[in-house]
Amino acid sequence: KKITIAIDGFSSCGKSTMAKDLAREIGYIYIDSGAMYRAVTLYGIEHGIFQDDRIDTEKLKKQIADIHISFRLNPETGRPDTYLNGVNVENKIRTMEVSSRVSLIATLDFVRKAMVAQQQEMGKAKGIVMDGRDIGTTVFPDAELKIFVTATPEIRAQRRYDELKAKGEEARFDEILENVKQRDHIDQNREVSPLRKAEDALLLDNSHMSIPEQKEWLTQHFKQ
Ligand code: C5P
Repeated sequence: KKITIAIDGFSSCGKSTMAKDLAREIGYIYIDSGAMYRAVTLYGIEHGIFQDDRIDTEKLKKQIADIHISFRLNPETGRPDTYLNGVNVENKIRTMEVSSRVSLIATLDFVRKAMVAQQQEMGKAKGIVMDGRDIGTTVFPDAELKIFVTATPEIRAQRRYDELKAKGEEARFDEILENVKQRDHIDQNREVSPLRKAEDALLLDNSHMSIPEQKEWLTQHFKQ
């Protein structure tokens, strides 16, 4: 019988790599809920809803129903790409500009409501692995397997730095570390669905684990 797997945790803790690999291995659908908040943020940037550090909340609220996010498998990478209103935005949503604004967008109640509704709809399929911040607590409180992933901010920043560099993008370690810490703070302290471990989630601190070690850990728990 196929189940629902919820993987939550701090930003850049490697949970999406974990979730993607697991989904591929067991033949489940992978959904990156963070990509959805990133796509809303990109939409906001492209539609002028940011004025310096302020968000034109009313404007975004009026447009939220026009924001449609979907995922389609990229045959080259074997992983799903994110589409915003039919356009592939997979690369555009991973920039520092989006990363530095997304947590604020994710504090907005109407944005979360819209995303959670779309996520629950996708979850009806069963056999899904979804990663994010509130999957085990809010989106799928009844998920059969819940995992909460964490690592130190320095280690997470280093991983993001390496990832950006590998893609040939400009990256500064101190800037990334600052962004990681800032997002942790906003995610943990927002009013709606703050980032926290569900009581029945398994805790995985992967600060000192390799990817194969993590995979092994996950496979063990999936089998149980
Ligand atoms: O996972 P990722 O770092 O791409 O997520 C981007 C941002 O979206 C997070 O920093 C967080 O603020 C927000 N998010 C959220 N709830 C989720 C997934 C992501 O608030 N389920």
